[in-house]
Order: sequence, then C-alpha cells, then structure tokens
Amino acid sequence: MAQAMEGSATNSHGTDDPLSKLPTREGWSEPLVLYKNYWLRPRFAATIMRLQNTFEARHDDIVLATNPKCGTTWIKALAFAITNRSRYEFGNHPLLFRHPQEVVPFLEIPRDGDMTYVETLPSPRLLATHMPLSLFPNFLATCGCRIVYVCRDPKDAFVSRWHFEKKLHREHSIDFEAAFNMFSEGFSPYGPFWEHCLEYWRESIACPNKILFLKYEDMMSEPVKHVIRLATFLGVPFSIKEEEDGIPEEVVRLCSFDKLSSLDINQTGDMVRRGNIIVEKSVFFRKGKVGDWVNHMSQEMGRKLDCIVEEKLKGTGFVL
Ligand code: A3P
Repeated sequence: MAQAMEGSATNSHGTDDPLSKLPTREGWSEPLVLYKNYWLRPRFAATIMRLQNTFEARHDDIVLATNPKCGTTWIKALAFAITNRSRYEFGNHPLLFRHPQEVVPFLEIPRDGDMTYVETLPSPRLLATHMPLSLFPNFLATCGCRIVYVCRDPKDAFVSRWHFEKKLHREHSIDFEAAFNMFSEGFSPYGPFWEHCLEYWRESIACPNKILFLKYEDMMSEPVKHVIRLATFLGVPFSIKEEEDGIPEEVVRLCSFDKLSSLDINQTGDMVRRGNIIVEKSVFFRKGKVGDWVNHMSQEMGRKLDCIVEEKLKGTGFVL
C-alpha cells in the first residue's frame, strides 16, 4: 500500500532542497509530493515553486486551467481557434497541422525544458496550467488576467487518467481498483480532484469577470452556446455577421473530438514533454465521451466516488 513519508532535507549536492522536505507517497507511476495540500509530480512542484518568484504575468494573459484529463486539449484548441479566428482560414488552419497541446504552452510543463519560452510570446498570451488556483504565482492571481477553468465528472476524469497512465508508463501498469482507491482518497496528480475544482468554482462565483467556470459535459451537450460564451468572456465576442456566417459552428467543428482525433498530425508521432519525457501525440485522444466510466467501473464504485465527492463538497454550494 502506498505510504506517505518525509524526505530528507538536503539533495545529493548537500544543498537545501525544498522538495525533499515534502511528504512523499508512492502508488502512481512515480511518487508524488504533497505541496500545500496538493499531490504533485516532484518536477512540477519544483517548477511551481520557482514560478512563484519568477513568473512575469501580464494583465492581458489568458490562462486555461484544468484538472488533468478534463478537456485541456479541447479547451486549448477552442481558445486558440476563437482568439485567432481573424488570422486563419478554417480550411488551412494551424490546428490542422499542429497538435492542440503544442499551440498553447503549459506554465509548469516547460516546452523542451525551456522556462523562458512563454516570456517570448506576444500579448495577449494564451497559457495553460493544471495548477490549483492557490498555487498560482502571486501576481498572476491578482493581475487581472482572465482564467477559463474546465472541470469534468470525476468518474470520467478518473477513467481517462487511468488509461493515460497506462499508455504513458507501459512498464508500470497500475491496477484499476488500486488507482480508484488512491483517486478516491484525493491522492492523484494535482489531487484532491474536488479541491482543485472547488477553488476555481469559488473564485468564479466571487469574480465572474475573472474566471469562467465550464463543465466538460455542458460543453459537449451545447458546444456552440459555449463557444459563443467563451468568445465573449475572452473579450473577442462574435459579431452578428460572424454568427450569421456560422463561424461559431466552424470553430466547434474544427475543434471537435472527431475532427481533431482523425488528423494524422494528432495520431502519429511524439512530443517532448516535461523536459525529457516522450509522449505519443495520440494519448490525448481516447473516446471523448460523457459517461464512459460505466464501461470501466461498477455502479457501486461509481456511487462510492459520487458519495465521497458529495461529502467533501457538502455545505459549499458546489456540485460536481
Ligand atoms: P477520454 O479519455 O475520456 O476519452 P486532457 O486533454 O485534459 O488530457 O483530457 C483528455 C480527455 O479529453 C480524453 O478523454 C480525450 O479523449 C478528451 N478529448 C480530447 N480532445 C477532445 C475534444 N476535441 N473534444 C472532446 N474531448 C476531447
């Protein structure tokens, strides 16, 4: 069974290493450290700590925030297509030639290990993160930037996570039930899952102009409505003419699971993530369905996770 343990306070060079002071627990493909109530992969925790003091936020930054496996790839594609719609023809669009994960960089997952890359981007920057809101670099949280958050039914997010880990770390396969138990305890990358969602939800209620809180399931059932909402929130609303011309529908089509997952560019080849890990481009596209959890877990497991989440969110007003 996975255990939490305190690490030693110095690294192999004998210098003070903040990561080594954090509780560590094994169970997923690599041990996670507990940093300010969230379980993180050590290298992301290190980057997040570094970003606190070094990240230079801009007031017009747009941050796409998600819990992993909740629709990051999709929201990256949508936000990119919406904000760049006057620059590109839909028939010859960058999203037909580049993976959505590559058109919007992650803050804490530096591209090719290069932390300075985002500084070179022109404003307004589109950035992505899985960081919990409470771990945002101070200035980013208060600088007036816009944040779009996407959450998802935890059961589907968990199933998606399990498949993702399986594909990413073939040599370290995790038993489904063991993974379910860890996730249900709140022990998963960027977990507890529900705390992550709750923080953003609370802030979206307090500051609706700052955070747009979306649910994967709602976006799936009414994509055009959500694309229009997203454009308005991002400060680039569709004109009446654009709506008459069906531009929101074009955006939805271009960014749909069926379209993106059918492209060769998204199905073949690798990308380098987290500095040195090779990730197959296809791992970001699996089924893209709501409710796929029923094909992987029993009704009893589903009810158990629902009850845990309900209990954790009791009294907050937030329902996942
Ligand atoms: P499933 O594993 O349930 O199919 P993330 O991008 O945050 O890693 O999330 C991945 C999940 O989003 C996967 O879910 C993936 O199939 C789904 N997904 C990827 N692109 C999508 C799109 N364009 N529309 C809807 N879902 C998408």
